[in-house]
Amino acid sequence: MLSNSRAPLQYLNDISAWVSCVQEQELLPKLIVNTATRMMQAKASSLLLLDEDGKTLRFEITTGSKKKELKNYQVKLGQGIAGYVAETGTPLLVEDVHKDPRWHSVISQNINFKTTSIACSPLKIKSEIIGVLQIVDRIDGSFFGKDDLNTLNVFANVCAKAIHNSRQVESVNRKNIELTEQVAEKSQIVGKSREVKRAVSDALKVAATKASVMVLGESGTGKELMARLIHFQSSRKDFPLVILNCGALTESLLEDELFGHEKGAFTGAVALKKGKFELADKGTIFLDEIGEMSLNMQTRLLRVLQEGSYYRVGGSQKISVDVRVISATNRDIEKEVQNKMFREDLYYRLNVVQIKNPPLRDRKADILLLTHHFLEYFRKQQARPDLEFSAQTLQIIKTHSWPGNIRELKNAVERAVIMCEGPMISAEDLPFFVAEKDPVSFDKLNLKQAVHSFKKKHLIHILQSVQGNRTKAAKILDIQRTYLSRLISEFDIKGI
Ligand SMILES: Nc1ncnc2c1ncn2[C@@H]1O[C@H](COP(=O)(O)OP(=O)(O)OP(=O)(O)O)[C@@H](O)[C@H]1O
Ligand SMILES: [Mg+2]
Repeated sequence: MLSNSRAPLQYLNDISAWVSCVQEQELLPKLIVNTATRMMQAKASSLLLLDEDGKTLRFEITTGSKKKELKNYQVKLGQGIAGYVAETGTPLLVEDVHKDPRWHSVISQNINFKTTSIACSPLKIKSEIIGVLQIVDRIDGSFFGKDDLNTLNVFANVCAKAIHNSRQVESVNRKNIELTEQVAEKSQIVGKSREVKRAVSDALKVAATKASVMVLGESGTGKELMARLIHFQSSRKDFPLVILNCGALTESLLEDELFGHEKGAFTGAVALKKGKFELADKGTIFLDEIGEMSLNMQTRLLRVLQEGSYYRVGGSQKISVDVRVISATNRDIEKEVQNKMFREDLYYRLNVVQIKNPPLRDRKADILLLTHHFLEYFRKQQARPDLEFSAQTLQIIKTHSWPGNIRELKNAVERAVIMCEGPMISAEDLPFFVAEKDPVSFDKLNLKQAVHSFKKKHLIHILQSVQGNRTKAAKILDIQRTYLSRLISEFDIKGI
């Protein structure tokens, strides 16, 4: 029996203190052995953890007078009392180690530490053994008994769980860092042209504030990227960035997405659903394609922005949120306002700061810079580190009109990296090569020729944008699929 003045239960306070320390990898083992030593009134305690190879036990941490020396020691699985417990998973109480053949006396002799009795418990996660916790000699010289071993076992079970949780937290943290780095790499805004520099510097200025930002630009000019930059450069970066494409949803779905609903609000509302505004609390909401929003929804959105609170669909409890709003559109939003398709008051609320992403054709200087940036990215992704562009390919890339902007350029580089067989990316590897093989200057064409040339380019562009899916392309072009097939033959653009 324990002869100490504090019963083990009273050590629950100590235990609860370190259970909440699972976030602190380095502190946890120390707290474990300190509590074990005090609770068991031991001269010393050691936490030994099994290495990844599953064959070696390392002294993770030790209390007592020899703690520094022991830090360098290891024992093999099956060796000594700790090794026996780790191998068999059975707790062990040895009153006099000198009489037990399992005792590995070398360590004690080496560090000159007199040991008589040892109690040792395995640390188990389900059936897997991750290490052992061992206590050596009671301070008052009495022996450890069965009850002590039972107490140590219960304590060891809690320790094992805490160590396991702490390892999981560490693994999640590590993954989080990796992902953040990947996101940072993916979210890098490349460009040295005056227009891009200006857009980025505006974004950085506004990031520090809570002001609403409207990002304008054609499709594929990096509007979402800009929204990410603003969010991740703001003090809100540790809270969510919630993205909602307003153009892809019907009015009622959009309402449901933005504001959520209460359980039972309508048939099919089987559970409470939080809206994007609620999910973005303290962070940022990115309302993409805001120009597609119906006037009805615009009115609802305006009210939320004015009041900073709203009700879930079918709800009676006011939800207050602190959200920065970034919106984007590729429409001429001012014209939409003039035509009364977009509420002027909402426009002014959303457009406190406006950032314009220039199309690629207005910043030719960035084309090659971006090309190399994407090549670098896909070289890594596709594990083809030595791939280069031929001079002719670069020339074609430079003079292409890039109707789909940066997204099109990025896709073109990706395709070229995938298609290219040798070490050099040639013109044939570019998806739009068919069109560029025979570049035409519109200046010298009569109307019929110009229409023909435009039709061909447009068909190629649409087909590329849907990765050659003819059904999708026909839908966008609003023509029969059979007619599209005929056009494809006529223009000799089968390869897309
Ligand atoms: N300046 C840039 N530097 C590097 N990559 C960029 C840049 N601009 C855009 N991209 C890349 O191009 C692609 C398209 O960008 P993004 O989705 O942000 O454009 P968007 O304007 O939101 O397009 P859409 O209007 O079609 O939604 C993304 O893969 C993005 O990473
Ligand atoms: Mg977008």
